[in-house]
Amino acid sequence: MQEKENIFHSFNRRVIVNLDPRSPEAESYRAIRTNILSSNLTNPPKVLMLTSAHPEEGKSLTSTNLAIVMSEIGKKTLLVDCDLRRPNIHAILGLDKSHGLSEVLYGEEEWDKVLKRVGIENLHVITSGAIPHNPSEIIGSDKMKLFLEELKQVFDIIILDVPCILAVTDSIILSLLADCIFMVVMAEKTPREAVLRSMSMLADVKSNINGIIFNKVNMRRSHYYYYYYYGSRKRRDK
Ligand SMILES: Nc1ncnc2c1ncn2[C@@H]1O[C@H](COP(=O)(O)OP(=O)(O)O)[C@@H](O)[C@H]1O
Ligand SMILES: [Mg+2]
Repeated sequence: MQEKENIFHSFNRRVIVNLDPRSPEAESYRAIRTNILSSNLTNPPKVLMLTSAHPEEGKSLTSTNLAIVMSEIGKKTLLVDCDLRRPNIHAILGLDKSHGLSEVLYGEEEWDKVLKRVGIENLHVITSGAIPHNPSEIIGSDKMKLFLEELKQVFDIIILDVPCILAVTDSIILSLLADCIFMVVMAEKTPREAVLRSMSMLADVKSNINGIIFNKVNMRRSHYYYYYYYGSRKRRDK
């Protein structure tokens, strides 16, 4: 326990390693993993992107937790902070933001020199790097495409943490490079029109949504909570 706290003390407290592994929250991330990996058994998706209509819906936290549960089952996983406007992955994982994606895209660093580790087996992270003055241009550059092609040779799963759709075009550009796209929707908060508008903007470039992740759900009203309670009681009865 002491060792776990030493390694992960700088993580956001809602990062999965800080949650009870049997909790409904942890189980929901594993359920998303199962859905993704079973969506195409012969050719499982490699590049995943979680986006949302608005900021603060939970893209970065969900991307991070999804990356951790992917690495838990032995997938060589890379989490890339592609939000070059309001990057957050470094803060969630207690990393230094510098030397990351923007330096790679400007040709100042090789990607293998900016990989960061956080003490979780199989998990690698690329932080945003310095905030550039032209995020959409460098995200949409040929360098970005080549960079992802190289990463696909090395990693089993690459998760792109991206900005929201309605404010900036970066997500739409990145959707063209992703194999699997999820919309994060804040349960009972995100207006339906905003979700529909985002989906139509993705459809305009022929990027399909593979699924919707409802975030910030009241778990006590979820069926997972029943199983958690059931599981806990069984253990106490032993
Ligand atoms: N499932 C959740 N439960 C509780 N808090 C959450 C959850 N998902 C996200 N948050 C919190 O909401 C805020 C926004 O999350 P973040 O992942 O940064 O959103 P985004 O990347 O969409 O802007 C953060 O403070 C984060 O810790
Ligand atoms: Mg974010």
